Amino acid sequence: MGRIFAGMVMPDERRVVLVTGAAGGIGHAVARAFADAGSRLALLDRAAGDMPLDGLGDALPIACDLADIAALDAAVDQTLRHFGRWDVLVNVAGIMLFKPIAEHDAGDWQHLLAINLVAPALLTGHALRHLPTGGAIVNIASVHAHRTSSMVASYAASKTAMVSLTRSTAIEGQARGIRCNAILPGAIDTALLRDSPNVRSGVEVIEPADIGQPEDIAALALFLASDAARFITGAEMVADGGRMARL
Ligand SMILES: NC(=O)c1ccc[n+]([C@@H]2O[C@H](COP(=O)([O-])OP(=O)(O)OC[C@H]3O[C@@H](n4cnc5c(N)ncnc54)[C@H](O)[C@@H]3O)[C@@H](O)[C@H]2O)c1
Repeated sequence: MGRIFAGMVMPDERRVVLVTGAAGGIGHAVARAFADAGSRLALLDRAAGDMPLDGLGDALPIACDLADIAALDAAVDQTLRHFGRWDVLVNVAGIMLFKPIAEHDAGDWQHLLAINLVAPALLTGHALRHLPTGGAIVNIASVHAHRTSSMVASYAASKTAMVSLTRSTAIEGQARGIRCNAILPGAIDTALLRDSPNVRSGVEVIEPADIGQPEDIAALALFLASDAARFITGAEMVADGGRMARL
């Protein structure tokens, strides 16, 4: 079985997928979905030691703080040396900061944007240099790119910027046959949601029916990275169970 792109056939089982935030809820589900499809995985997380690798097949865990640019560059080198190729990038890692804008200092802005925007942007640059024709980039943004609540301004701004980065990447990737799309999840049942002070305090109210599972996002990432999505690039896909559609 092979994937056909621009006349090339690339067996799925040879695809090498780099996933950031792979020790987290959505990142781990993304890793599992690609492993089940036969992909080989480079799994980046600052918490790589805690990463469950059972069922992930040919997986290379890499301990990497995405705020450390030398470590990020080294992780890409390690992936290319280990597997000899790189086909898909999934930018999953992200953090939230719960503070009013009036209490955000320069360090707060720089730290959050370093992880949520600069690291995905630098990895995108690496991907545009190394991915082959038929390669794909999937960015995990958030519905906060479009609608938000108080206390999370830096997070919301970073996710809007990530959607913009997705568009620019799609434009610059087109000539190289590399696609880039963003997923905007709503509330997904992970530690990030469960530990959210806004959810705990009631600033953000989420109905149980509006909470999705990490696998719901992973399935969409797998599709967007596949050649079944070969005409989809520069798109933002909301996956929120319909929460944003209501008045
Ligand atoms: N859970 C939700 O409701 C939800 C909704 C919308 C978007 N998202 C986005 O999905 C992505 C994943 O979130 P999640 O819910 O799985 O959260 P999570 O906290 O379970 O996972 C995030 C992972 O990123 C890693 N990470 C954080 N900072 C890092 C750094 N400096 N270097 C390397 N790794 C780092 C963490 O160690 C963790 O494993 C995030 O970008 C988040 O913004 C989540």
